[in-house]
Amino acid sequence: MTKHAARPAIHRRNRPLILAVPLIALALWSWGIATALAAESAGLPRILVLATGGTIAGQADARATGAYKSGQITGEQLMQSVPGLDKLAKLNAEQISSIGSQDMNDKVWFALARRIQEAFDKNEADAIVITHGTDTLEETAFFLDNVVRGDKPVVIVGSMRPATAVSADGPGNLYEAVQVAADPRSRGRGVLAVLNDKIQGARSVTKTNTTSIETFSSANDGPVGYVDTAGGIRFMAQAQGLKRATYQLPAGEQLPRVAIVYSHANMDAVPIEDAISHGAKGIVLAGVGDGNTSKPALDALEAAAKKGIIVVRSTRVRSGFVTRNVEVDDDKNGFVVSEDLNPQKARVLTQLLIAGGVTAPAELQKAFTATW
Ligand code: DGL
Repeated sequence: MTKHAARPAIHRRNRPLILAVPLIALALWSWGIATALAAESAGLPRILVLATGGTIAGQADARATGAYKSGQITGEQLMQSVPGLDKLAKLNAEQISSIGSQDMNDKVWFALARRIQEAFDKNEADAIVITHGTDTLEETAFFLDNVVRGDKPVVIVGSMRPATAVSADGPGNLYEAVQVAADPRSRGRGVLAVLNDKIQGARSVTKTNTTSIETFSSANDGPVGYVDTAGGIRFMAQAQGLKRATYQLPAGEQLPRVAIVYSHANMDAVPIEDAISHGAKGIVLAGVGDGNTSKPALDALEAAAKKGIIVVRSTRVRSGFVTRNVEVDDDKNGFVVSEDLNPQKARVLTQLLIAGGVTAPAELQKAFTATW
């Protein structure tokens, strides 16, 4: 009875302490977890994911077999659909646009370039991953490669199948893109495209197949490296730092008008005259063979160059180089050759050069040849 009666008295006296013990333990436990998480994420690179749309963000109509709409899923949703990304990096996503890349335009390019530069200059990110449609991915990669300063990794990624496809390639590609962006060995390599286990350089990479997931290749020099979840990343050579010229992003949000004219059998001068009448400041010839075209088209290009329109000879052939003064007298006509750049990339470089006030053919040629 005495024993029994004494018990509640002790209990009452010690109640605050008894209550405090689990609270303190809980606080210590959560502090421990928070510290562990902070320590873990402190060691991880900060990657800013800039989403633009494309098939990687596409959704199929459940009733359709192959049809889908690109750019339906946000960058944030994309990231959440890939398990394990948070172990690779501290990720943040921003939506720059939600378009199929057939609609890619100067406005989105300028927004991307400015946001990337800001994130690097203000040290908000250690690397950038851009999600993009595959159709014009190589042009965006090349544009950014020429205007973004610094050596931090910028990786562009897309997919050939929509997110809702049975074996979507987007999640794996995004995982590998983050892996590459997070790797310090990716610094100083310019913009890299990562798709289907391959890492390719912005200058060479091009889309070569309309349907297969094995579509991107670099015809003249092959991939910069390979990536897969089991083997990790293998670069084929050491980074060479920034050897390319970096162009100033022009004020505003538009590049000068430069047209691409595609050459073929029975070619006449009409597409060239059209381009001039629509105000082209430059014309890139997607020529046959070594960037050649018919006599009437060549005469029209010579007349254009005499008027001060920049003429760049590229080729519709998928690999190789366009060489000066072989079949066409470039010195006499005032033409420039694109070297290894395909017509769509030669167009971007011509636009940046014209925007920067470079209009003398010899100076333009130096810029196209700068890589060698
Ligand atoms: N039109 C496409 C684009 O966004 C879809 C193709 C793709 O992303 O693979 O580039």
